[in-house]
Amino acid sequence: MFSNPRGDYPAVRLRRSRRHAWARRLVREHTLGVDDLIWPLFLIDHPSATQSIDALPGVERLGFDPLRRAAARAAELGLPAIALFPATDPKLKSADAAEAVNPDNLVCRGVRAVKAEVGDAVGVICDVALDPYSSHGHDGLVRDGYVVNDETVEVLCRQAIVQVEAGCDVIAPSDMMDGRVGAIRAALEAAGHHETQILAYSAKYASAFYGPFRQAVGSAANLGVADKQTYQQDPASSDEALHEVALDLREGADAVMVKPGMPYLDIVRRIKETFAVPVFVYQVSGEYAMLSAAAQLGLLDRDRVVLESLLAFKRAGADAVLTYFAPLAAELLNDGRRLK
Ligand code: PBG
Repeated sequence: MFSNPRGDYPAVRLRRSRRHAWARRLVREHTLGVDDLIWPLFLIDHPSATQSIDALPGVERLGFDPLRRAAARAAELGLPAIALFPATDPKLKSADAAEAVNPDNLVCRGVRAVKAEVGDAVGVICDVALDPYSSHGHDGLVRDGYVVNDETVEVLCRQAIVQVEAGCDVIAPSDMMDGRVGAIRAALEAAGHHETQILAYSAKYASAFYGPFRQAVGSAANLGVADKQTYQQDPASSDEALHEVALDLREGADAVMVKPGMPYLDIVRRIKETFAVPVFVYQVSGEYAMLSAAAQLGLLDRDRVVLESLLAFKRAGADAVLTYFAPLAAELLNDGRRLK
């Protein structure tokens, strides 16, 4: 068969459709919009204070007034949802993480404050996991040095219920215990909360990219040199992520999440192609820290790498992205900024 050593050139010139902005806009396959973004917020138990977080330059832990202002800002910017993470007073942490099921704990009071401020204009997502409350920093209960599954799941169900009764719209189990999505779904049904969504952290990897988050919620010191490899996924595997997603969907998850984000785009793609369900991705604290630090050093153009990294999630197949850059990205997008 005839084969032109120069390929189909000059008949085919791909640069034609890249020549002008109007042409690029016409063939563009993916877009990033404010509707795709979820803003994670850290809470502290104070009426008005904010605290900076060394590992997350530009992100603060918020007391109640600043939390209300952030929720109002999310509504103004058009962000569909926020995710709340409590930095619990170390004195309230215990081996049994009892504070997790206190209906008046920090995150429950935060949910009430946010809902009073913005109502249904902004969805509220709460993590289900014990690490903000446990003296050992693990997501579950520890027996003989091992994070036990079934006993943990019982506590997670109670944690989910107190959060939902405070007004939380979406329960996001990030603990990686087996069977927790089904158990939480059954507990929600039994308590009459049929409409509560579950966003399952289905493909959550045992990642060093969570380091800054653990500093932000104060679990880093509790965890010490321990790691979460007996429950979070092995970064060397990807089939396992599909198995987890299949189970979580059968157990009643409304959407599934991949985490971290940029190092795991292949997982996002495989899940979207296999299941065709809503897939969310978490651009985690370490990703935020990397991009921010490089921008601060003048090595990267912050605004452009933020939009490019978020668009990459959309291209990989994500429907929505949790990102600490959400307000910045929303401002840029509302200003009409796109990747040129
Ligand atoms: C808690 C939880 C973690 C994150 C979200 N929920 C940390 C962890 O599993 O250790 C990480 C988020 C981030 O790094 O931004 N289970």
